[in-house]
Amino acid sequence: MKVLVIGQGGREHALCWKLKNSPSVERVYCAPGNAGTALEATNVDIAATDVEQLVKFAKSERIDLTVVGPEASLVAGVVDAFQAVGLRIFGPTKKAAELEGSKLFSKELMRKANVPTAEFRSFSRFQDAVMYLEEREETPLVVKADGLASGKGVFVCKNRQEALDAVKQIMVDQAFGASGNKIVMEECLFGDEASILAIVDGNTILTLEASQDHKRAQDGDAGPNTGGMGAYCPTPLITDKLMDQIVEKVLVPTIHFMNVEERPFKGCLYAGIMVTNQGPKVLEFNVRFGDPETQPVLMRLKSDLGELLKAAADGKLAEFGPAEWDPRPAVCVVMAAEGYPGPVKKGAVIRGLEDAAEIADAKVFHAGTARKGNDVVTDGGRVLGVTALGADFAEAKLNAYQAVKCVRWQGGWCRKDISDRARSYLAEG
Ligand code: AMP
Ligand code: GLY
Repeated sequence: MKVLVIGQGGREHALCWKLKNSPSVERVYCAPGNAGTALEATNVDIAATDVEQLVKFAKSERIDLTVVGPEASLVAGVVDAFQAVGLRIFGPTKKAAELEGSKLFSKELMRKANVPTAEFRSFSRFQDAVMYLEEREETPLVVKADGLASGKGVFVCKNRQEALDAVKQIMVDQAFGASGNKIVMEECLFGDEASILAIVDGNTILTLEASQDHKRAQDGDAGPNTGGMGAYCPTPLITDKLMDQIVEKVLVPTIHFMNVEERPFKGCLYAGIMVTNQGPKVLEFNVRFGDPETQPVLMRLKSDLGELLKAAADGKLAEFGPAEWDPRPAVCVVMAAEGYPGPVKKGAVIRGLEDAAEIADAKVFHAGTARKGNDVVTDGGRVLGVTALGADFAEAKLNAYQAVKCVRWQGGWCRKDISDRARSYLAEG
């Protein structure tokens, strides 16, 4: 097969790498890609949301399967446009992508489908939201902009004042533009978070092994929220029993109700789960592979990813059978540019990538990189996702940080404690 991957981050580099190594795949293209995807695929200079040009390219190159990375492409309707001209594509339609594109849609669907999640209220007028906050008892509360906000539209508030500030930022200051025309306020959940990624063909659900992200910028989960500073797979937090519960109480009813709503879901369904004292509850749905979770998950996948995603796109996942996994855990450490998650300077020359490539069982996935002459330079906040396998978490972590040590650029940094939580779960039994 000839495959096209849409996107340009660490997730897309991992997808390109795994697809290139799939026996069913002869050739991989990536639009627009980065300096890392160029090592596995042919980069094509088309923006991830330029639907018209993407369709044109896929048609002229006779692409057999297109795999969509970012939510922005999905919300822009890339899947609808490909399907309209009979091109095979893995991802949800625009209507199904609402599950991520609108928090309110997803909360209402969960309510109908009886999926365990935080209690919520929604508001489209600032005054109503303020009145609600003033009248209710003062407890921690989460305020969310309804629409897409690059992961920044969620405020976990300790008290009324913080919640008022968040509502004002979203609705009055319009920090996220039209995404903040509506807001969701929900009960604050407490527990540990895990990411459940599932490949779905409209009806059949194939769960990938559970992973965990590190959302905060600094060691010990301190500092501001980020797109994710590292991840590992599997996570000892999600036992087989918990996974069964998540499939039964979350994934199956969600996919069923998407069909009831006439928005059949095909693609990667990502459930952000909080494991609470009352069991697993959904924090949010994403309609795409997670970043950086995809890097350690795919590092462990032994099945042919091309065949898997093709089967899902064709509605034939039931014929695929269970996925095969490397039993070794994988750890991904994100290396970021100075200033991230705030504004960053681009263009610093990255050195040591060849040395890192020599480290056994490690792979450096590029996120925000570009090629400039013979150099690879930084081109975003999250720059690399250095990922490694090991016999256990200690060894996987060691391998990943050994590769990290080889790489340097001015201002580059990373967390030092990625995957320590996995070991603490194991120690607690
Ligand atoms: P989301 O984009 O909805 O996943 O939210 C981003 C992060 O905010 C999540 O990963 C959680 O850490 C936190 N969060 C979201 N909703 C809640 C909630 N109801 N209770 C506690 N934390 C939450
Ligand atoms: N790692 C979080 C996300 O992909 O949204």
